[in-house]
Amino acid sequence: RYIKVLRGLDELELGLKEELGLKEVYVVPSGLNNIETQRELGKFTAEFLQQNLKDEYTLAVTGGTTLAIVADLMLTKKELTDVVVVPGRGGLGEEVEIQANTIAAKIAKKINGKYHLLHVPDNLNKDLLETLTKESQIKRVLNLVKNADILIHGIGTAELMAKRRQVNSKKMNQILNDGAVGEAFGYYFNQEVDIIYSTTSVGLQLDELAKIEKTIAVAGGKEKAEAIIAVVSNKYQDVLITDQHAGERMLTLL
Ligand code: G3H
Repeated sequence: RYIKVLRGLDELELGLKEELGLKEVYVVPSGLNNIETQRELGKFTAEFLQQNLKDEYTLAVTGGTTLAIVADLMLTKKELTDVVVVPGRGGLGEEVEIQANTIAAKIAKKINGKYHLLHVPDNLNKDLLETLTKESQIKRVLNLVKNADILIHGIGTAELMAKRRQVNSKKMNQILNDGAVGEAFGYYFNQEVDIIYSTTSVGLQLDELAKIEKTIAVAGGKEKAEAIIAVVSNKYQDVLITDQHAGERMLTLL
């Protein structure tokens, strides 16, 4: 707390909380580079998550490098009982190390919980997707996801995420021309928090987020400031965890 006051982080937290209308905002010190910043975010978020998890909770997670670090930095904790960890959405074309499935499994192991995976690729045609979601195993996992107590997700810049998820260049140009700046779990948002485009995938749909008791967004680095503003709103999130550089830039834009 003392360090936070000294660095002005507490004021930054208050400013962001007010501007974004969120219940909770946490700002960690920025590192000298993005890797250091991600570690700061990861350390704080892992601890925050561990404090907020309770017995019999269902935790839904998304993919990304930030969440992968959170999973790495979670401490082994055996006191919790019957916690279930699930991926928030099916595959989003990520490398296996940063897929939501991998992160869900890793976190579950750390906290002695169970995990269930969603092995459904993106961009299947509608009929096939509908058939798959009726399959009992998948249906069971989707039910857990929709009734999660906590959801934690990362945020990316629209361009980088479209590239990483191999959106074809024509589609990508269209999304960017339409004004997309930020992305979270397959949804691309413009500066006004409107959805510009969504990847076809199973799992959480945006309008289901309000039902989840605690939705936590974690994202940092100055270059993500616009993306965070585009994605985060009190319609969807309760908590934002970010870093000083991103936070300062966000306040100049809000
Ligand atoms: O959906 C957004 C991404 O998960 C963010 O990924 O943490 O690797 O920047 P990142």
